[in-house]
Amino acid sequence: MRVLVTGAAGFVGSHLCEALAGRGDDVVGVDCFTPYYERARKEANLLELRELPNVELIEGDLRTGDVAAWLANVDVVYHQAAQPGVRLSWSDGFATYVEHNVLATQRLLEAARVQPAPPRVVYASSSSVYGNQPRYPTVESDLPAPHSPYGVTKLAAEHLCLLYSANYGLPTVSLRYFTVFGPRQRPDMSIHRLCESALDGHPFPRYGDGTQVREFTFIADIVAGNLAAGTVDVAPGTVVNLAGGGEITLNDLIDLVGELAGRAVPVEQQPAMPGDSQRNGGATDRATEVLGWEPQVSLRDGIVAQLAWHRSLKR
Ligand SMILES: NC(=O)c1ccc[n+]([C@@H]2O[C@H](COP(=O)([O-])OP(=O)(O)OC[C@H]3O[C@@H](n4cnc5c(N)ncnc54)[C@H](O)[C@@H]3O)[C@@H](O)[C@H]2O)c1
Repeated sequence: MRVLVTGAAGFVGSHLCEALAGRGDDVVGVDCFTPYYERARKEANLLELRELPNVELIEGDLRTGDVAAWLANVDVVYHQAAQPGVRLSWSDGFATYVEHNVLATQRLLEAARVQPAPPRVVYASSSSVYGNQPRYPTVESDLPAPHSPYGVTKLAAEHLCLLYSANYGLPTVSLRYFTVFGPRQRPDMSIHRLCESALDGHPFPRYGDGTQVREFTFIADIVAGNLAAGTVDVAPGTVVNLAGGGEITLNDLIDLVGELAGRAVPVEQQPAMPGDSQRNGGATDRATEVLGWEPQVSLRDGIVAQLAWHRSLKR
């Protein structure tokens, strides 16, 4: 199988490339190294991949690059490239989100549909498309109502996947990830910052009162969901939640990371941030039904693995 992974140097993309290469696929990885966080971290993510003979890494931008050439003879595209993060998506920042999340996805889908044998496109969508819902856990048929400009762009790209399916029969699958964590997690994400605070002793800025509820999904489970979505027989345009099982408040998460790190996390109170939803939590019945997927790694075990990674960076 020949596969294209966009956003290959990122947190999810680099793990996915390793899994795909490990099972023997020919992997083409594309990334343009956006400056959202340091290039050095992304280069570190790629260290093992650069040694593998069945991996080709291309520095290229989906907004401008020769996407058709990257797609030649590709069977499955795993589209991870995006401008992530809620906070910068307001104000002037929005244009960057539209470009990397909407325009880039449209270019990819357009190039995919005109291939002699159009590939399947597995799209990394997000629980942020739900916003604040009247009932939880959310199911895929709930009316999406993003609470941030970032969520709007992730939903727009999901709709693009749906309409390329409906109009051209392009086989797309959208996976709505519920906050992903584990080794290599992006430095802006809460568990990353909590682990660093616990290990270094500097304060963790807690936005809001800490009662917001989140569901976290371990990176290996996200990779497994992608592998299933790329191979099992699913209807074009399918949308599936990938949620780790079990919700937790931010306050309880702060305590859990402190307990597992062996040192309480010092907290610095900050006002709530616009765009942060009060709750996220997703049902995984559809993932089980159509992908045969269930989360395997608990939050506790996953944080232990992530803490080990943070410690390894400090040696
Ligand atoms: N990490 C999470 O908790 C989470 C949750 C929900 C959805 N997602 C989605 O999963 C995907 C991966 O997220 P991540 O946490 O690995 O982010 P990341 O920032 O670590 O990785 C994304 C990568 O895409 C690259 N990229 C961005 N725009 C590009 C473009 N135009 N052309 C080529 N490369 C480009 C970036 O340089 C980056 O390396 C994203 O689509 C994100 O929206 C992530």
